[in-house]
Parts: sequence; C-alpha cells; structure tokens
Amino acid sequence: MVNVLIAPSILSCNFLELGREIKEIDEAGCDLIHVDVMDGHFVPNITVGPMIVDFIRNITEKPLDCHLMVERPYRLVKDFIKAGSDIITVHVESDAHILRTIDMIKGEGKKAGVTLNPGTSLHSVEEILPYVDVLLIMTVNPGFGGQPFIPSMYDKIKKAKDMIEKVNRKVHLEVDGGIKVSNAKKVVLSGADILVMGTEIFGSKNYKQKITEVRNSVGE
Ligand code: DX5
Ligand code: ZN
Repeated sequence: MVNVLIAPSILSCNFLELGREIKEIDEAGCDLIHVDVMDGHFVPNITVGPMIVDFIRNITEKPLDCHLMVERPYRLVKDFIKAGSDIITVHVESDAHILRTIDMIKGEGKKAGVTLNPGTSLHSVEEILPYVDVLLIMTVNPGFGGQPFIPSMYDKIKKAKDMIEKVNRKVHLEVDGGIKVSNAKKVVLSGADILVMGTEIFGSKNYKQKITEVRNSVGE
C-alpha cells in the first residue's frame, strides 16, 4: 500500500487565527502544510507571500508545501526558500523556462514540483518529469477553495501515474482541488500519493478526526 500524505490547504483556514490554525492542524497529524500563493494575475485571487510563510515556519516543523499560482514564479522562488519553504511547486503555464526554475529550486536544496491546470496536457511535462520531485495535478481551476472535483481528472491522474512509473526516480503525484473523504480513495486508486485538502479539513469541527477519516478511507 502506498504511503498517502495529507496536505491541508490553509487557503480555507481562518486567517484571523492563523497561528492557532497552524498549531491545530500540526497537532492533528497532517503530513505537510499546503500554502496557496496567488498573485491576482495568474489566478484571479490574491493570498499570501513569503512574509507569511516565514511566520508559519516559526511555529511548525511540518514541511511547507508552497504552490505558486503566480506569473513568472522564478522571481519569487528564492524569497520563498529563504522564508522556509520545503517544496516549491510552479505552474508550467506561468513560466517559459520551467526547467531553469526547477533547477533553481533544487540548487537551493529544496524539492521542486511542477503543476498543470486542468486544461493543460500532460505532454507539457513529459520531458521534465525526470527532474522534478512532485507532479501536481490540479483537479479544479485554480484560484479558489471549495470547488467541485472535475471528473475527467481521474483519467489524467492515471495517465500521470503511468508516466511517473517510466521515470527512474521517486516523483510524488499530488492532487489538488475538490478532494473529500468521499472521493479520496478513488483519487488514491488512480495513483495519487499526496492529497491536498482545503475546505474538507478546515471546514470540519475536528481536524484530527477528519484526517483520521481520510486515512481510513484510503485504507491506511
Ligand atoms: C486552489 C488551491 C487549492 C485549494 C483546494 O486554487 O490550489 O489548494 O485550496 O481547496 P479545496 O480542497 O477546498 O478544493
Ligand atoms: Zn494548491
């Protein structure tokens, strides 16, 4: 059985209580903390920058999984690393020289991820997969939490898994958008090993219980 990692997305937490929320999700037993960075250009929404990552870094040891939904992410990569990010994931649609950005992240000793919007073909990452640590499949159009999972993405996850199996190194398959207890198993059976979950976890009353429910549902 694959070891499935759970990455709550703080996009859906109560930002007025960010410190308490981070501590609570940490104690609830999450594996990673997913930080959605949005610039109001690549996606219509605006969220947080390196300064907030720096604050989060001071109160948790959990790996910080920073998903950059920004134009020209290479401008910001070093600032996010300095702030304490462990994984930095960039969109292929936002960077004409994605491999250079991946090298920049890895050159700083951090894990590099690449991600695709639902409308972007897996072919756009085929040749760079041997250089990444994480392939993130977006299963909603990025920008907001709480959107429904796009059903045709199951097939994309399966195809991504097949592509990863041909690569001669560990590449995590992360899935982000619309994941709930009700579909987590199907997402994992399709090939995912990192589940990003925003509203499902932060919208629940008991984070620990919700994370346990997710782990039980995927058969861990
Ligand atoms: C969407 C973000 C997601 C989002 C997921 O642009 O990348 O990480 O927070 O939220 P849910 O789980 O509510 O779809
Ligand atoms: Zn995300």
